[in-house]
Amino acid sequence: MLKVIDSDHEMREFGQAIGSVLGGGEVIELIGDVGSGKTTLTKGIGLGLDVTDSVQSPSFTINRVYSARDDLELAHYDFYRLDDSGIMSDELSEAINRPDAVTVIEWGGLVDGVLPDDRLTIRFVSPSETTRQVEVIATGDSSRQVLGKLSDDSAA
Ligand SMILES: Nc1ncnc2c1ncn2[C@@H]1O[C@H](COP(=O)(O)OP(=O)(O)OP(=O)(O)O)[C@@H](O)[C@H]1O
Ligand SMILES: [Mg+2]
Repeated sequence: MLKVIDSDHEMREFGQAIGSVLGGGEVIELIGDVGSGKTTLTKGIGLGLDVTDSVQSPSFTINRVYSARDDLELAHYDFYRLDDSGIMSDELSEAINRPDAVTVIEWGGLVDGVLPDDRLTIRFVSPSETTRQVEVIATGDSSRQVLGKLSDDSAA
């Protein structure tokens, strides 16, 4: 799926649409430059998961965990400032293996080996100050199901 998104508000709405079709156990990898909208999209995913806390960039803390609907949790990671994945990769794999967690990862290059083969990969490109091209790719059966639901919703 390829989308052009013209405002940060629209980016949150797209994230909300993604969050709404998640049921737990999903892993979502966000790839794009600084300021391309990864955290903004994650705020929207939080909305779609009925997270009531405000979702903030976890740049300094590496990760933040939020309570979500249906006894789910949103686990949000940002490895930008980490130069040794060490203990964080254990933490991350624990979240990834939990069926009640939705795991969202920014700057996951360092922990690539920990990420499951089946995941949603979302690539962000910023052709202008306010325009973002977002490409959503599914790499396995369960991520393909999520992408299918998302496409059905946006077709409706
Ligand atoms: N169409 C758009 N979609 C998303 N964000 C936009 C858009 N247009 C402008 N912006 C702005 O771009 C910035 C995106 O910031 P955000 O924190 O989401 O980026 P990020 O990819 O998480 O960056 P970092 O790698 O530093 O964590 C915000 O300031 C937002 O207001
Ligand atoms: Mg960010």
